[in-house]
Amino acid sequence: MDTLVIVTGGSSGLGRALLDAAPPASTRIDVSRSGHGGPDVVHIPADLADPDSWEQVGERIAAEVARGDWGRITLIHNAGTLTPIGYAGETDSDAVTANVLLNSAAGQVLGHRFLAAVRGVSCRRELVLISSGAARKAVPGWATYGASKAAFDLWVRTVGEEQRDRGGTLVVSVAPGVVATPMQAEIRDTDPHDFPGVSRFRDLYQRGELADPDVTARALWALLDEPDLTTGSVVDLRDRDAG
Ligand SMILES: NC(=O)c1ccc[n+]([C@@H]2O[C@H](COP(=O)([O-])OP(=O)(O)OC[C@H]3O[C@@H](n4cnc5c(N)ncnc54)[C@H](OP(=O)(O)O)[C@@H]3O)[C@@H](O)[C@H]2O)c1
Repeated sequence: MDTLVIVTGGSSGLGRALLDAAPPASTRIDVSRSGHGGPDVVHIPADLADPDSWEQVGERIAAEVARGDWGRITLIHNAGTLTPIGYAGETDSDAVTANVLLNSAAGQVLGHRFLAAVRGVSCRRELVLISSGAARKAVPGWATYGASKAAFDLWVRTVGEEQRDRGGTLVVSVAPGVVATPMQAEIRDTDPHDFPGVSRFRDLYQRGELADPDVTARALWALLDEPDLTTGSVVDLRDRDAG
């Protein structure tokens, strides 16, 4: 039986690599504004910072779930943004609103809609929220971003407990490490006035220490196959690399 793989933010960076590394014979769907562009990737165009898009995207996901006799269904909510990088009270208010809606709210709402769509389905089901090391420490300049990833981690812990009780979907949060994507280029370009921690990321780049998105994507798919991975887990891929 076929696998259904849906990745939000599949047009770029890690999300694109996750679609490219999806299990063989997968039906692959990207939810983003610009699209993956590959011939075998279905594009659901959506601006996930706009709450009006969530119902339409949720309904499309539910329709895809209902359409096939799937052997496995995986949703990876990966879309995210750091914009606007800067101190709270000093950045553009509309950009802050979009950041909060995309990073904090869209994942929880789409996650809820996904769990509703797969409730009556008995195949292997997985919901992955892409988190960040920034969920676990205060990073001046990244307040709404870090807060959103911390919210993901608690949402996953809580919903994982619920799914253990009833539901049976594997729900996990995964921090990918520092990965060579356009988001990292944006970080390196930031003025230290807005992001005092910028030199660390410039140094990592200079030393060639950013992870390859394809390697990170394969590590994430391998993680999902680990028999001891339990629902509700909050995983940092760097901890696993370190053993
Ligand atoms: N790179 C890292 O080092 C790193 C570290 C920790 C966590 N992460 C997390 O990994 C995930 C992927 O990041 P990345 O580094 O691959 O970044 P990226 O290259 O900038 O890609 C971001 C993706 O999110 C999508 N996106 C952004 N705003 C959107 C919107 N309003 N509606 C729909 N889709 C939107 C983009 O698609 P469109 O522009 O086409 O809409 C794009 O596909 C993010 O959740 C990020 O927080 C990354």
